[in-house]
Amino acid sequence: MENQHVNPCTIEKCDIFDFMAKYVGLSVLHPGGFPATKKLAQACGIDREKKVLDIACGKGTSAIFLAKEYGCQVEGVDISGDLIDEAKVFARQKGVAERVSFQVGDALNLAYSDNEFDVAVSQAMLILVSDKNKAIQEAKRVVKPGGYAGWLELSWKKQPPKEFMDAVSNEICAYCMTNVLTYEDWENLFRDSGFSQIEITRSSMNMSGVRGMIRDEGFGNVIKVMSKYLFNSRVRMRMKNLNVFMNSNSEYFGYGIYTARK
Ligand SMILES: C[S@@+](CC[C@H](N)C(=O)[O-])C[C@H]1O[C@@H](n2cnc3c(N)ncnc32)[C@H](O)[C@@H]1O
Repeated sequence: MENQHVNPCTIEKCDIFDFMAKYVGLSVLHPGGFPATKKLAQACGIDREKKVLDIACGKGTSAIFLAKEYGCQVEGVDISGDLIDEAKVFARQKGVAERVSFQVGDALNLAYSDNEFDVAVSQAMLILVSDKNKAIQEAKRVVKPGGYAGWLELSWKKQPPKEFMDAVSNEICAYCMTNVLTYEDWENLFRDSGFSQIEITRSSMNMSGVRGMIRDEGFGNVIKVMSKYLFNSRVRMRMKNLNVFMNSNSEYFGYGIYTARK
């Protein structure tokens, strides 16, 4: 209860990712959904021969998607033990437990040897950590020479003014949004990190419609999400507010796919 006082997670005030996961029930929590994950995978050269690390894998939906789509071996790591437990169950349900494994771990101090993976990917994680550079260096360390690291991150299309950031903190998220960078600042961060090749794809943010949700979440989960939307007026109101806020500020909201070669 004391914690809630410091960082209240109510339907109205929860950070956007917590709201989407806990109250809406979504499991794919990065902008662009699986089509964006596919672009990230292609830019990193993922195929069935590759050993891939998904850093901050959440409930494991992208790790499982990569294993099914490309036939690769995937290890998922996340700081949340509860999410990792769900990911393990999910991998068994989807019949990929042979090729996908999960463990609890910190992106800032990965429990893997140097040069262990062909590719390391991470989606919607850097905006949540205090030391982005350390997280980037950890991804670089565990990737083989010549291998790829790739990130998918929320990005400002242009530097937002203070009033906008205040509104964002109120509407969306107290912490993670203040940690978002402009496309140029992300690019500089990756360029300064010692990789040899940096490629960037910029995209606009769209809230995925029902069809996009079915593609990413599966029909069963969409039914659960839709019933929360229909029968919980507070969830419905917050989702509408978020939609309106993001659509009316589309000049700022974007996301980038950033890939780099070791
Ligand atoms: C917005 S969610 C994204 C989850 C998933 N990558 C996706 O795209 O659906 C961010 C995830 O980062 C995880 N996370 C935050 N800080 C972390 C850290 N230091 N190390 C590992 N995972 C972390 C959270 O537990 C959460 O699962």
